[in-house]
Amino acid sequence: MSISSFLRKKFSRSLFFPAHNRGQALPKKLVQLLREDPGFWDLPELPELGSTFSNFGLIKDSQDYFAKKFAVKSCWFGVNGASGLLQSAILSMANSGEYILLPRNIHISVIKICIVANIIPIFFDLEFSEISGHYLPIKKDWLKKILDENLLNNLKIAGIVLVNPHYQGYSCEIKPLVDLCHQFKIPVLVDEAHGSYFLFCEDYDLPNSAVKANADLVVHSLHKSLNGLTQTAMLWHQGNIVDKNKIARKINLLQTTSPNSLLIASCEESIKDWLKKDSLEKYKKRINQARNIYHELVSRDVPLIKTDDPLKIILNTGFHGIDGFTADEFFYKKGVIAELPETMTLTFCLGFVEQTNFIDMFEHLWKSLLSSGLERKELKPIRPPFSLIQIPEITPSESLLRDSEKVNIKQSIGRISADIICPYPPGIPLVIPGERMEKERVDWLIKQGLTGENLLDFYINVL
Ligand SMILES: Cc1ncc(COP(=O)(O)O)c(C=O)c1O
Repeated sequence: MSISSFLRKKFSRSLFFPAHNRGQALPKKLVQLLREDPGFWDLPELPELGSTFSNFGLIKDSQDYFAKKFAVKSCWFGVNGASGLLQSAILSMANSGEYILLPRNIHISVIKICIVANIIPIFFDLEFSEISGHYLPIKKDWLKKILDENLLNNLKIAGIVLVNPHYQGYSCEIKPLVDLCHQFKIPVLVDEAHGSYFLFCEDYDLPNSAVKANADLVVHSLHKSLNGLTQTAMLWHQGNIVDKNKIARKINLLQTTSPNSLLIASCEESIKDWLKKDSLEKYKKRINQARNIYHELVSRDVPLIKTDDPLKIILNTGFHGIDGFTADEFFYKKGVIAELPETMTLTFCLGFVEQTNFIDMFEHLWKSLLSSGLERKELKPIRPPFSLIQIPEITPSESLLRDSEKVNIKQSIGRISADIICPYPPGIPLVIPGERMEKERVDWLIKQGLTGENLLDFYINVL
């Protein structure tokens, strides 16, 4: 089957990203554009359009309009996902040889730019749920402990990244954290890839957007948490700590010279759509429906884990001795495609479309899974073996430059990793280059592989 044929495949439910649910929730203006003669809209950077960092043109006007609307200093559309804009944002905070503070659930794109630009990550650990096996949102006291100078050995910190909300939708109160970092004079980048729509619903009992919490830089993934096409993203910038000109130069450094005009239009339309009163009302209804889905399923004994993003449904499969990967296979075969299988859970994204007859369908499938005679196992989340603060023993850049040797994971104990180990989704590295493969880490990695076989035969490059 060709790729294009596969793209036409129908599923009974598409509960994954992009959140526009296979076009059903795309903004009207984008749908009109797509109905033009195929490819008619595929324009280069004509003078009328300009580019995301030019001083003239419709793209600049649109970015300026949104910056004014949300009372920030500047903003930029992105066509290489939140990944691309996170990388530009990191480069605008930290120079080669400088340190940045990263939570253990950081996205892999940040590690990649640290490697390329010789920026040194200092990892801080997060609280961990023994029920879901997920990291928990960070609290102010936890962050205070981390920012303590003694713990950081008086190293000068060029910036910090906070991931909020997490992939599964857990969210912290972001404003006190941003304020705390600012008290320590540390610039804050918030990876809000999963929370773009919070910005538009301040009165809707959702987590606060970091854009409203004065974070210096905030990155949105418009296809994950708004109704943009895949690869669309936005970088918001405010305050005087990070230099606007430096950000524009770093975006220019990493971005293609031929940004796709359809994606740029999608960035604009997905944000404009949420600013329209009637669309916003429609999306608020969806949020209400999603909240109702959660409560109704819980009342029918479907084991869901509570999260702060109503559009994420987290099924606690582990509670019934079924791992998320096995449950995923079962749902997939029934045409219900989830977003994120993990050891204890399976996460579904409702997206921005109306989910009709969802509750009965979901309850029915879950109960058929339970009665399918599947072997149950005793499942327990495995706590990550990290200390509160950890710095790779060798810089990630250097460990990639040195000669390395490929060994079986079990033989890697005591060696220094020259690889990133990172399952996707969720794209959170478990090991990065420069970190030592202590026995606890290797045991933990092996235990992650539920099926066992995958990881037992797993090779890694080490120094
Ligand atoms: C927390 C987080 N940040 C950033 C990204 C990157 O987003 P994108 O796929 O838009 O590049 C992801 C993707 O999974 C993510 O989960």
